[in-house]
Amino acid sequence: MQLHGTAKVNNRGHLEIGGMDTVALVEQFGTPLYVYDVALIRERAQSFKKTFETLGVKAQVAYASKAFSTVAMVQLADEEGLSLDVVSGGELFTALSAGFPAEKIHFHGNNKSLEELDMAIEKEIGCFVVDNFYELELLDELCRAREKVVNILLRVTPGIEAHTHDYILTGQDDSKFGFGLLNGQADEAISIAMSAKNLNLLGVHCHIGSQIFETTGFLVAAKKIFEKLKEWKDEKSFEAKVLNLGGGFGIRYTSEDDPIPASQYVEEIIGEVRKHADRYQMTMPEIWIEPGRSMVGDAGTTLYRVGSRKEVPNVRQYLAVDGGMSDNLRPALYQAKYEAILANKALEEPEETVSIAGKCCESGDMLIWDLPLPKSESADILAVFCTGAYGYSMANNYNRIPRPPVVFVENGKARLVVKRESYEDMVRLDLPLKEIIKK
Ligand SMILES: Cc1ncc(COP(=O)(O)O)c(C=O)c1O
Repeated sequence: MQLHGTAKVNNRGHLEIGGMDTVALVEQFGTPLYVYDVALIRERAQSFKKTFETLGVKAQVAYASKAFSTVAMVQLADEEGLSLDVVSGGELFTALSAGFPAEKIHFHGNNKSLEELDMAIEKEIGCFVVDNFYELELLDELCRAREKVVNILLRVTPGIEAHTHDYILTGQDDSKFGFGLLNGQADEAISIAMSAKNLNLLGVHCHIGSQIFETTGFLVAAKKIFEKLKEWKDEKSFEAKVLNLGGGFGIRYTSEDDPIPASQYVEEIIGEVRKHADRYQMTMPEIWIEPGRSMVGDAGTTLYRVGSRKEVPNVRQYLAVDGGMSDNLRPALYQAKYEAILANKALEEPEETVSIAGKCCESGDMLIWDLPLPKSESADILAVFCTGAYGYSMANNYNRIPRPPVVFVENGKARLVVKRESYEDMVRLDLPLKEIIKK
């Protein structure tokens, strides 16, 4: 099995990440436990940034914080010189609480509330990615009332769906996000945005999908957007200063996945954008991207304690762990696949095939099917790899299971960055039907 980042097996036969023995981490912080390899996150951030620098293209690499949003993660993004994409008041509040520079925050979302917009205007964030006509009008109105001008991008849907190895030209825009590029909505939105006195229209945004392993979808999107930009230049004298091509760059969850390096996405996208800018004699726009999964996905590992085992004779061995869909919803939500090892028996050869069950009261709460493992027993530690994106951020309290803590590891040091929830936290917001009479 290919290990990611700084992960290796130490001379005690234990999985080590960031110079920390995972067995020792579990002794200190308990299970389940999310562990993040900070050096790998830094490496990912720098490889996106450096490629733009090498190509001499003005750019913003915005970390899509929906993938994993906590105060410490936002501070790490800031340390690495990233911008930040937020999609809700909660993510915005997290960023501001972390001291992230407001002018480097981009605000997304297809239904931003008046309160969310108001907070973002007041805090003077860098850019609003406007999703629909309702928001266009509301944002302009709110800015007028506050006598402020804000930067905006218009999110367009170019009629392309990209996923892993395929992309589909849908020919229409059946998406809840953005202004259709093909059905005239984007043309109308540009005209409104250009005439809105309190909105400074910087350019356009699109996001074509996620876990994408090749560049074709991005290149087709760039081509379609440039055809439109040419039209807008000729007919409306509008020139985009910024083109945001979203996130979606794929990562290696299992040996079936074969992602290309961050640099290759960026190089090919820039090549295509340059080509169209030259062809239409337009100034090369500033390029923004929004990687989420590819920034943190393979940097995260979840450590569980093995508990019960159930054998269905001649069918399957179920091995249950002390977490599940409450800390990682992705397998139940969209059959996401993962690889795992026994962290305390990392040098032992696989001897049996087991299926890893979560502890939630749902038959669908299965983390991994048919996983080869060494002979395992209760109290072993299972390390599930690549849980760094959309794991903690989609964690929930189903069955009133407290959410696990998050630990950052780097250079032989571990730092607790999110505390474990307690049972008290489970009832913290509850109000009683009647007072409990303490006996
Ligand atoms: C607008 C937008 N940008 C960026 C992202 C991040 O995508 P990924 O985590 O696949 O890089 C998403 C994910 O849903 C998105 O909707």
